[in-house]
Amino acid sequence: MIPLSMFGRAGLVAIGALAFLVLGQTSATRAQGNLTLYCAVQEEWCRAMVNAFERKTNIKVAMTRKSSGEFYAQLKAESSNPRGDVWWGGTGDPHLQAAEEGLTLEYKTPMLPQLQDWAVRQAEQSKYRTVGIYAGALGFGYNTEILKRKNLPEPKCWADLLASGLRDEVQVADPNSSGTSYTMLATVVQLMGEDKGFEYLKQLHRNINQYTKSGAAPAKATSLGETLVGITFMHDMVTMAVQGGPVKVVAPCEGTGYEIGSMSIIKGARNLDSAKAWYDWALSPEAQALGAEAKSFQVPSNKGSPVPPQAPRLADVKLINYDFAKYGSSAERSRLLSKWDREVKTLPK
Ligand code: F6P
Repeated sequence: MIPLSMFGRAGLVAIGALAFLVLGQTSATRAQGNLTLYCAVQEEWCRAMVNAFERKTNIKVAMTRKSSGEFYAQLKAESSNPRGDVWWGGTGDPHLQAAEEGLTLEYKTPMLPQLQDWAVRQAEQSKYRTVGIYAGALGFGYNTEILKRKNLPEPKCWADLLASGLRDEVQVADPNSSGTSYTMLATVVQLMGEDKGFEYLKQLHRNINQYTKSGAAPAKATSLGETLVGITFMHDMVTMAVQGGPVKVVAPCEGTGYEIGSMSIIKGARNLDSAKAWYDWALSPEAQALGAEAKSFQVPSNKGSPVPPQAPRLADVKLINYDFAKYGSSAERSRLLSKWDREVKTLPK
């Protein structure tokens, strides 16, 4: 064995530099490309997807997680110099809006024949600029312990959330940043009509303790007892219940809206081949199984993907005939959001 000291200080530095070069080169040759991913589901699921994809393809993924409305705004802001390749997850409405505005790229994945009709319809509606990856119904959940302590009746309907006993006890996201909350806004308008819907939202405002940035945040807050009621997708409340939180999940009695969680390739993507590789893989049963493993219980879009037993059964929920063409249009989005900002958010409590 040659004592290291015989190389002297300069020699050691040189050996170090050489090793760095060799190792650096090896990993550079091993990486089969790069991908910048905008991920709009729960962090755990984003990370599980990234790890599995990197292992399978050797493509290096740089991932950022944000809410649906935030990514939609980011795509617009970056349109002259796109930074992302794929926007994966988040509610379908903003993906349709981005498609309409030419912010995303047309891609007819060979996986289309394997997908549920609702996922294919999402692709057709956007002229193949987006596709459905999962579905889930909107609802709410409540903390069973606080409800008992306060001796309040169990809320079962949207109307029940206006009760005076729930003053400052209801949490929902801000529809500007959150796709969940935009789905709620569009649902209430479709369910009750626009005038009555806005009247409902104004009354509900009195009971809201916080408009959060992310759509699923109120589920966590409900589970932790920071709010009595949280309005979220039902599957986000199920995640809390599965983790042992004192949470009961409710499908509102009047009926409710739903999402077709979607995925789009960003126009101007710098890593187009990697983007297509992600797109096709993310629609496979193998990739879609990672959702339930990461405790996300949406209904997956590949017909061959098993529906997790914990996923709320959409057939048992009174779903409205959600008008994705209308509420997924950019004009309707801006109109509804400005009206909500003007008439609801700024109302004194
Ligand atoms: O991952 C949970 C989830 O509820 C998805 O089903 C949905 O598409 C997304 O979060 C919406 O998040 P946000 O409301 O923050 O845009």
